[in-house]
Amino acid sequence: MAKHYYSIAIDGPAGAGKSTIAKALAQELGYHYVDTGAIYRTVAYFLDLLDISPKDVDGVTRYIDELTIEIEYDEEGKQHMLMNGMDVTGDIRTQDISQKASLVSAHAVVRDMLLDMQRDLARKHNVIMDGRDIGTVVLPKATVKIFLTATPEIRACRRYDELVAKGTDTTYEKVLAEVKQRDHQDTTRAIAPLKQAKDAVLVDTSELDIPGVIAAIKAIVGEKIPG
Ligand code: DC
Repeated sequence: MAKHYYSIAIDGPAGAGKSTIAKALAQELGYHYVDTGAIYRTVAYFLDLLDISPKDVDGVTRYIDELTIEIEYDEEGKQHMLMNGMDVTGDIRTQDISQKASLVSAHAVVRDMLLDMQRDLARKHNVIMDGRDIGTVVLPKATVKIFLTATPEIRACRRYDELVAKGTDTTYEKVLAEVKQRDHQDTTRAIAPLKQAKDAVLVDTSELDIPGVIAAIKAIVGEKIPG
């Protein structure tokens, strides 16, 4: 009989704390952490190098077959993204690629190509997968579903602090406008929009620190997965 694996889906808007929480929890539980946003970012980065606009569905369709994406994990469990064999893990983490990933992810041709890759990981490992449509589309039967959110102002504040720490020259107002624009794009697209699955538990991180969020999520996970 095929081995059964557990899956924890964490969806929510940009800056809600999904990756921080998912990474910490994956380490604690010994699960694979899958950052699905990084996969869309890799597509956006590839098209950007070719000078294809993320809105140009014909261009995207024409070139997408030339892209091979692989996910690898290093000894510390960190996820690496390979674009046609080249490690682009660091290159995809810019504000420009965030916006382009959001736009490119609206196309059916892109989402269809990435669906199997994501499901395949959950077939082979215990996973904590974060994204926008994990609980609704990718893993509708996930063992645990969490919808992690926070106010746009709090999320922008966190993102702004991260960017400043990395030496990026920006303003809080600019980051807030980008957060709101991405929320709008991700929640209003026709295919697999960001939304809370009916059976997902809502966790608002606006008033919580990281240990507080981890404790809240561990309690939710503990109800479904024997420790
Ligand atoms: O999580 P992130 O900020 O790295 O994601 C970048 C973009 O990719 C996000 O704005 C929308 C898209 N995305 C998606 O459509 N579906 C996912 N499961 C993950 C990300």
